[in-house]
Amino acid sequence: MALSERSSVQGSVKEVLREFQVSFFALTRLPSFPWTFVEKDLQSSGSSELISQVLKQFPPSVRYRRLFLSQLIRRLEASGCEPLDELYDALAEVVGAEETMECYKSYLLPAGGAVSLMENIALISEGTTGLVTWEAALYLAEWALENQQVFTGRTVLELGSGAGLTGIAVCRSCSPKRFIFSDCHSTVLQKLRDNVRLNGLSEQTTPAVSVEKLDWTAISEEELREIGADVIIAADVVYDPDIAGSLAKLLSIVLRCSSAEGLPQVFICSTIRNLETYGGFKQQLEAEGVGHEVIPAPVNHVFPYNRQSAIELIKLRR
Ligand SMILES: C[S@@+](CC[C@H](N)C(=O)[O-])C[C@H]1O[C@@H](n2cnc3c(N)ncnc32)[C@H](O)[C@@H]1O
Repeated sequence: MALSERSSVQGSVKEVLREFQVSFFALTRLPSFPWTFVEKDLQSSGSSELISQVLKQFPPSVRYRRLFLSQLIRRLEASGCEPLDELYDALAEVVGAEETMECYKSYLLPAGGAVSLMENIALISEGTTGLVTWEAALYLAEWALENQQVFTGRTVLELGSGAGLTGIAVCRSCSPKRFIFSDCHSTVLQKLRDNVRLNGLSEQTTPAVSVEKLDWTAISEEELREIGADVIIAADVVYDPDIAGSLAKLLSIVLRCSSAEGLPQVFICSTIRNLETYGGFKQQLEAEGVGHEVIPAPVNHVFPYNRQSAIELIKLRR
């Protein structure tokens, strides 16, 4: 095989591997899974080594593995291909396995490596929405990767961090000086601490990282001044009209707590599920004397999520 041909084959293997891993590790919904990539690789290589390798490293949930393998086998059979024995074996292994409430999800970073999180398999569990990664968190992380200068050398506070995806991606890729994750729910805080540790971050690392209990309805101006954040971020925190008022009030206070770098920059990223709730939040911000501008969407698609969702990133100003 000519050298140019060989390097183009290697390039396409790399592409298959990346597409596959990005979707598989993050448990992308199966209807939007890049099946053609996987099928092409199986047909051309005649081996399921790639799939077996990924299944073993950070195994996604039992249910996901089961659905993925049955669908892959079905698709291969329908296309007249004989599915490989290893795929039947892998399916047999998960058919009898017990389902767990939690599983790993890994989000590959463009510069290499991944943010790996232990997440719940249900969107809402233990009375909280904070044990899974939401689309706005992925959107905000993509925007941060393209706007690293906003975070470099800064003290960053994240409100309602949940499982920790955005903050960990910022710590990995944007060189902040210090990063403070926060949430109010005790189970979420425990999971967040575990995930921060799982990704090798702590008070002793660069950046120095801490996880704090911070309730929007209870924090005082003095406590916010003590944190001294230069940048405040939050993803998917506007969904409950009952707490939107407290959040708007907190953000108006935050905007007058200047740090060594001057007045802080505040970015809120929201999935707009209900126009009334989102509009109500903006009205409450205005009532607190806080204006906003909409920030253009990130250009590069790094993480897999539904691009049709209505997501908006706003920057607040006094
Ligand atoms: C929809 S989740 C978003 C989690 C994460 N930012 C993401 O986008 O994946 C909302 C988060 O806000 C937190 N939260 C809700 N009310 C809060 C409050 N009053 N104070 C602090 N955090 C709160 C929840 O515990 C949860 O982790």
